[in-house]
Amino acid sequence: MVNKKIVLKLISAITMGVIANVMYIPVNYNSVYASSKIEQSEVVQSKDYQHNIPTLRNTFSDYFEVGVGLSEGFIESSDIHHDFLKYQYNAAVAGNFMKPDALQPVEGTFNFTNADKFLKYCEENNMKMRGHTLLWHSQIPQWFFEDPTDPSKPASRELLLSRLKTHIQTVVGRYKGKVDSWDVVNEVLSDSNGLRGDSEGSKWKSIIGDVDGDGYDSDYIEYAFRYAYEADPDTKLIINDYGIEGSNRKRDEMYSLVKRLLEKGVPIDGIGLQMHISMYSPSAQQIKECIENLSQLKTINPDFKIQVTELDMSIYNNSSETTKEVTQNILLQQASQYKKIFDVFKEEAKKDNLDLVVFWGGADDDTWLDNFPVKDRMDAPLLFDRNLQAKPAFWSIVNPKSQDRAYRQKLNIVNTTPVIGTSVDKKWSMTTAFDVDSYVYGTSGSTASVKALWDANNLYILADVNDSTISNKDNVKFLINNGYGEDKVFIVNRNTDTETVKVTSEDNGYKIQAKLPLDNISCAVGNKIGFDIKIDNYDSNGALNSSAVWNDYVDNGKLKSENSGILLFDKSPKLVEAKKGTPSIDGNIDDIWNTANTIKTEVNVQGNIADNADIRTLWDENYLYVLCEVSDSNLDKSSVNAHEQDSVEIFLDENNARASAYDSDDAQYRINYSNDHSGAGAINYDLLKSASKVTSNGYILEAAIPFKNIAKANEIMGVDFQINDAENGQRVGVNSWCDGTGLTWSTMNNIGNILLDDK
Ligand code: XIL
Repeated sequence: MVNKKIVLKLISAITMGVIANVMYIPVNYNSVYASSKIEQSEVVQSKDYQHNIPTLRNTFSDYFEVGVGLSEGFIESSDIHHDFLKYQYNAAVAGNFMKPDALQPVEGTFNFTNADKFLKYCEENNMKMRGHTLLWHSQIPQWFFEDPTDPSKPASRELLLSRLKTHIQTVVGRYKGKVDSWDVVNEVLSDSNGLRGDSEGSKWKSIIGDVDGDGYDSDYIEYAFRYAYEADPDTKLIINDYGIEGSNRKRDEMYSLVKRLLEKGVPIDGIGLQMHISMYSPSAQQIKECIENLSQLKTINPDFKIQVTELDMSIYNNSSETTKEVTQNILLQQASQYKKIFDVFKEEAKKDNLDLVVFWGGADDDTWLDNFPVKDRMDAPLLFDRNLQAKPAFWSIVNPKSQDRAYRQKLNIVNTTPVIGTSVDKKWSMTTAFDVDSYVYGTSGSTASVKALWDANNLYILADVNDSTISNKDNVKFLINNGYGEDKVFIVNRNTDTETVKVTSEDNGYKIQAKLPLDNISCAVGNKIGFDIKIDNYDSNGALNSSAVWNDYVDNGKLKSENSGILLFDKSPKLVEAKKGTPSIDGNIDDIWNTANTIKTEVNVQGNIADNADIRTLWDENYLYVLCEVSDSNLDKSSVNAHEQDSVEIFLDENNARASAYDSDDAQYRINYSNDHSGAGAINYDLLKSASKVTSNGYILEAAIPFKNIAKANEIMGVDFQINDAENGQRVGVNSWCDGTGLTWSTMNNIGNILLDDK
């Protein structure tokens, strides 16, 4: 069989390249693909799909449809994808050819050729058709926003609304009764806060604004939904966006926007989570929390649904990574992550929260990620490879037990000795939890959030197990392998109570504190052990309800050491002790600072900073006080981006939950050498106090970072300090005190600790 080669031609240069300070959230890409175009060329290569393997459409038929975003050429029966996609998938969406620029390139001239063919393809092959997308700021012709008499002027509100109405009603009306769900609006949320505006390439908000005078500028969204509803009241009308599952801020804004609109009677049937994710983040549990949080909108609209609309899982962690080889290990790691995420999807489908999962591409030979966010960086984000062959990721979600090997997750654990007792030792707050959430039996039941610590003799475990069905048989097994083929399995029962293992009942489950002996194992920094966990959850009649493991999902949870995860013994957690005291914030080093401990921003994150900053801290009930003495002979704040100016960043995780995405108590405070403030998360600009002073060899910065709650002695909070070194409008160096990943702007996972000393 033959296939046409797809040539992706990016007409505009990709302007982003390396996006500093951006992890994997696809911001700023609109300029990239606004003018990109797909062209067909001659047949160059033959490939065929596997005709006798299980299909996604059947495997998940009890849960949700599995859809695919596709290129228009694939609809042609001469193209191998035509048969491949209909064999595997039972829902489909146009990758590009139903966007405004494709359907109405010139005002009043609609082009439905591809869309009509696509509808026929879906109908003939029993695939649910999605519509993507009606209102967007990208891939929309300029004429929409221009005054017809003078294109240099913007269209009026009335004209833009009437154009929107015509576009939506012509398109939705044509396919009335045929389309399962429509992305009515796409990517309307900003990457900083509120709705996307002119600075992020969208004119909808500024031109249409607050029509009804209720104080909200979201009326364009409301109109779009009402127009669509008038044209087809029976299709599901979806608000679609990216990065929601990775950002609590964006998720909360989506929730309040949709809640307000639903309460106003706007016909919104669901939220589309694009889910362009990476195999490193977000975690399956973050995705689960996101779906459950947004599903609370069912209290207003009982039929409200979440859909996954553009799933792909990049093998890259950020846009600075260069092309990497797709090794077996990468494929297994991706498979393990896909497995956990599909476990969540199944569970959420059973709860009636989720009804569709669509991949943004049928196989790795057709992925936009080959050119986004880095041009020509080949990615491998889907379930089938470039030759349409099923990858480990496919098998991990379709039949995990058919696999020989599981990816061996590696986890660094820090060195400290907690006390096992009736209350949980504060030391546990200095380490980050990981999830045990890969089901080897059942689709819902018990998962756990677990922490581990080590010392010369023992491994310490703190496990929060969710389990609402109490049975005496409930248990958690811990496997330790010493690296010489010797396995030990420790079983902790829900009722265990010994010197070394304490179990306490909690509202929604139970908590385990355990001290597990590391006999015959040399416990030293840099050494490692094999490790796995299995949670067996029984129902109240004593029947097994579910089993979930940390690592080895291929052996049905038999805890085989060759497929276990790995724990690496790391150093002690980073900790600074802050004395109590209240300095005046004036840029002068008061005597009281002489009592404070000094730490250095000694961890290099980017570039090469010659002199590290000296940092001192103090605290009182209301504030964390920070004094930074930064050596830098060349001060620069010429960049428009605050993080690319000479500045200090102070991160505070007050409850030290060390969350992957910022919680409501997590804040990033950024202050530059001339005392300008910026930041993210729970930053409180009103209460923040700071002063700066330029010195002969750099600058001094003194800041009072407000606490949300009254601080108490002996608390251990999460903190970190980062220095940004700028030259000629660019950030040339970054150093931090603790987190070497450079990701503290988005995650508290790797933050350091501060102990509030009572003296
Ligand atoms: C992408 C297409 O896959 C590319 O071929 C095109 O060049 C740009 O657009 N979010 C969306 C999709 O809603 O429409 C985008 O699709 C990917 C991000």
